[in-house]
Amino acid sequence: MDVFRVEGPVQLSGSVRINGSKNASLPIMAATILAPGESTLKAVPHLSDISVCGELLGRLGCKLTRGSEGELCIDSTVIDNPVGEYEIVCRMRAGICILGPLLARCGRAEVSMPGGCAIGDRPVNLHLKGLKALGAQIHLKNGYIIAEAPNGLKGKDIFMGGPFGSTVLGTANVLMAATLAKGRTVIESAACEPEIADLANCLNKMGAKITGIGSPRLTIDGVEQLQPVSYEVVPDRIEAGTFIVAAAITASELRLQNCRLGDMMAVVDTLRYIGISIDAEGDGCVVSRRGLLNPVDVTTQPYPGFPTDLQAQFMALLSLAEGNSVVIEKVFPDRFMHVAELNRMAANLRKEGPTVIVAGVKKLIAAQVMASDLRASAALVLAGLAAEGTTIINRVYHIDRGYERIEERLNPLGAKIIRESV
Ligand code: EPU
Repeated sequence: MDVFRVEGPVQLSGSVRINGSKNASLPIMAATILAPGESTLKAVPHLSDISVCGELLGRLGCKLTRGSEGELCIDSTVIDNPVGEYEIVCRMRAGICILGPLLARCGRAEVSMPGGCAIGDRPVNLHLKGLKALGAQIHLKNGYIIAEAPNGLKGKDIFMGGPFGSTVLGTANVLMAATLAKGRTVIESAACEPEIADLANCLNKMGAKITGIGSPRLTIDGVEQLQPVSYEVVPDRIEAGTFIVAAAITASELRLQNCRLGDMMAVVDTLRYIGISIDAEGDGCVVSRRGLLNPVDVTTQPYPGFPTDLQAQFMALLSLAEGNSVVIEKVFPDRFMHVAELNRMAANLRKEGPTVIVAGVKKLIAAQVMASDLRASAALVLAGLAAEGTTIINRVYHIDRGYERIEERLNPLGAKIIRESV
């Protein structure tokens, strides 16, 4: 198992290119199931979650080959085993997003019911509600979701909102299934995340008829078939946000290439309030901090609200602000595994239900800490860049799920991170 030794405090400078989005790539990989033949995806990052998704598609019958520069060819001519096995889905919950496309293509799918994870229960009731509305018969057997639609799916008006708002992968599943359903489907309270817009744009390039992309109402007119596609996924706004916090927490200036600030307005707004300067430049932006950090209240929400996937990283930053901040988590109310770890680094965080009061401290102090989930782990790396001493982060495989060799990206900018196998 690898650990990181992060030496701090450091100052960063230079330029980094943001990779393609993990959370856009995963459903788009699943979408290739809908179009028999060879699709070519570009800018697919080299991450362990992407490999696991590839393994999942491989077990269905697809053939995958990696090209250079993030190219991924998926040949979905043959799908002879429409089963998402427990062994794989339990490693990566996003595996659930093969359910809709498999059902639409094969008329039947068996996908392991994902369990909970470090960030919460993560139910799939809305995915199933949407697919049932399209005419699927669904039951659970031995921990597997068995979905059947022997006579095909039929378009329907579906409300997809839940107690925490829209669902990203639930929208992806129903959207993909609806592209091959007979007639018109309207998804109301659809997720508006840029990753869902990217999926819809890719599906349209495959021949789907989707309108309302980026809005909470998606209208899908079913088509007979879809064609394989060549498609480049959007830049990763969460990776971009993580590098931006790296600049902010170390009082540095960084340039980011391939970063769409238009997809990050809630984040940019919050950064400016905190006192970080951030401006568009070329196909990316320049971010810098010179003065002290203002405290700010942050509430995570579905897009276009502040993303839950940057909550932990911002909490690390706000730990060093000049006063008290309040962070409210409205998407995954239990997503606070990083709180106790940041407190081990001398942060002053107090959790009250889905809220954390962040009392700013003058400095963070290195400690041995435990990575618990992807974004919590990123927050620990960021805290380590600013903390005095050598922070040792255990279980960095969590970070590798969503950041491509983060130490090799940060070290050329001035970070001192060593990966060690223990
Ligand atoms: N929810 C339900 N019922 C459902 C589905 C979701 O109640 O059927 C609830 C969830 O429990 C949660 C809320 O709805 O409270 C939102 O969950 P959502 O379904 O949107 O999450 P997801 O689709 O499983 C994706 C990302 C997550 C990201 C969330 C929210 C991927 C592969 N995963 O998960 O990314 O946090 O949307 O934006 O796209 C990450 O990259 O670190 C990560 C966890």
